Amino acid sequence: MRRMLPAAALAVVVTGLWAPLGCGSHGGGNQSPRDASLPEMLTSRFCGNCHTDHYDDWSGSMHAYAADDPVFLAMNKRGQRETNGQLGNFCVNCHAPMFVRQNPGKNMGQALADGQAVPEELKGVTCYFCHSIESVNPAHNNGLVNLASDLVMRGEIRDPVPSDFHKSTYSTLQDRDSLDSSTMCGSCHDIVTPMIGGAGGAHLERTFCEWNKAGFNVAGANTCASKCHMTQSNTKRSIAPKVPSAPPRFFHQHDFPAVDVALDPSFLSTHPKAAQGPQTVQTTLNAGVLRGALCVTALGGIRVVIDDFGLGHQWPSGAAQDRRLWAEVIAYSGTDPTPVYKSGVVADRMPVTSDNDADLWLLRDDMLDSQSKPVTMFWQAVTSSGNELPAPQFKPSVFSTVATHIGRSFPKDGSPVSKPFDRVTLRMRLQPIGLDVLDDLVQSGDLDASVVASVPRPFDVTLLPESPATPMLEWKSGEKSAYGTFKDPDNSLATCVGSIGLDPSAPSPPQSGVTCKP
Ligand code: HEC
Ligand code: HEC
Ligand code: HEC
Ligand code: HEC
Repeated sequence: MRRMLPAAALAVVVTGLWAPLGCGSHGGGNQSPRDASLPEMLTSRFCGNCHTDHYDDWSGSMHAYAADDPVFLAMNKRGQRETNGQLGNFCVNCHAPMFVRQNPGKNMGQALADGQAVPEELKGVTCYFCHSIESVNPAHNNGLVNLASDLVMRGEIRDPVPSDFHKSTYSTLQDRDSLDSSTMCGSCHDIVTPMIGGAGGAHLERTFCEWNKAGFNVAGANTCASKCHMTQSNTKRSIAPKVPSAPPRFFHQHDFPAVDVALDPSFLSTHPKAAQGPQTVQTTLNAGVLRGALCVTALGGIRVVIDDFGLGHQWPSGAAQDRRLWAEVIAYSGTDPTPVYKSGVVADRMPVTSDNDADLWLLRDDMLDSQSKPVTMFWQAVTSSGNELPAPQFKPSVFSTVATHIGRSFPKDGSPVSKPFDRVTLRMRLQPIGLDVLDDLVQSGDLDASVVASVPRPFDVTLLPESPATPMLEWKSGEKSAYGTFKDPDNSLATCVGSIGLDPSAPSPPQSGVTCKP
């Protein structure tokens, strides 16, 4: 299985890469450098022989899960059927890019829908895929990504020591301190739907575009991988622990935390890190993104303000058409446990809808057809319309972000709550995928109902900075107001509880909503 290198290439390697470190300095022994074959390089598990922590992290990530995801499989199946296979490789090109590339010219999306299994090593966004990317045109849909065929692993290290498996080189596309790394992530984290029948051209999952628009695309600002989605270790340690010559370096987390979690039982049983519990991933990252305030006016109106403190894009972002983020507001009087007012109180296992809850504040994207009617599936959409929390603006002049916030009254029209109350609670709740989306797929016969049953309860987003960090804000009549008092839009004085540093009286920015156009 040894890959044969042409003599010229070998000479470059010997003088350029191996020679400075001397013969036998790799792997501790005297064996000559061995290059793994393509099939070996494709197998993420083999990378884990040396990069143990990278593999452990990755194997529990959404990147490893992307082609096992039963919701993905169900949607692709339905999409192929409803478009007579015209959906083609569209979905699978991002969810299992090596599966498509190893089967050139074939409709692997249809093959998947027909029940063809993806070989284990080609599932998901693999190590080899990310670390072979040689060039990216910062467009959408993972279309213009070129992979190198030299089996050299690209990363942020400028002086890699040799390994017995692969050669290494520095590349800006795989260096989180370089803006190029965001265009690499952005090639997939930005979708424009294909033109099929009368639909298509909808710009969905615009995370990369949102980050660009927010002004982060300047040298030194946060990239996708810096700070948030690939955290750096505090201390240096070997990134290839079994290779004695490997020096201590910073390790970068490969679990790609955000809001989504694995549901598939067989994936969970074979990927211990994913099985550690959904809340692990969710709480580590989502504890630091939102600030919030809960205010009550002298006339008895309730105001909720949220602020995008720690974000690099809108929220929810990505699959915002499927994510559900909403405010649960409950007002009580005295010790009576029955609320005098409530909105966003959703029983577990129930979809979040505005049925019987006209005041519901649900932040999401709606996919629309050419008549502006809501649709539920990608390939039916022509456009989208959203009310997500806008991203903060990055200001290069001060080299910092300027937080923006949005607010909402309860009741929605700004009027006072009809009955007196003296205590109010607020939780910002999030469910990675709406149960209504899943029910729709069960009804069309594409998703097993057991998947719906395995969806975890919504989680409560911590509103920072609070000490101790709390997922719930509680306003009580007569308690000190967090920000003094200020005139609310109804012209009466308001008192608030909430995060330090947030100014609920400051004007909200115009809702940026869907401003990213292809
Ligand atoms: C351009 C790359 C790309 C394409 C094309 C794409 N996806 Fe995805 N998909 C992603 C990314 C990136 C995410 C993670 C989104 C996030 O950050 O919230 C995702 C998330 C998902 C999820 C999990 C979140 C959710 O919505 O529940 C499902 C299911 C899914 N995609 C299905 C599909 C299907 C079906 C298609 C084809 C109709 C498709 N995707 C096409 C990149 C892509
Ligand atoms: C036999 C052990 C071994 C295996 C297996 C292995 N690597 Fe490496 N890898 C190394 C060593 C050693 C280094 C250099 C470490 C250093 O300099 O600190 C390295 C470096 C890297 C780098 C950094 C390159 C740079 O210049 O920034 C990447 C990325 C990488 N490996 C990815 C992979 C991937 C992906 C796989 C699986 C296809 C893999 N490795 C398999 C030993 C291995
Ligand atoms: C979604 C793309 C992506 C995937 C998938 C991915 N990596 Fe990486 N990896 C990166 C990026 C980006 C960096 C650079 C981080 C930086 O700049 O510090 C990196 C860095 C590395 C490094 C250098 C050391 C470090 O921690 O920074 C190694 C080694 C590595 N990855 C191995 C792997 C292995 C092994 C896998 C699969 C188990 C894998 N990667 C999967 C994007 C990816
Ligand atoms: C080949 C396409 C591809 C590339 C390149 C890619 N991703 Fe992803 N990413 C996906 C897909 C597909 C998913 C969702 C899989 C699912 O849920 O089914 C995803 C999921 C994620 C998630 C989890 C989202 C959530 O809501 O839980 C994060 C975070 C993420 N990616 C970050 C990154 C970063 C950072 C990079 C660049 C270093 C990157 N991705 C590069 C395709 C890609």
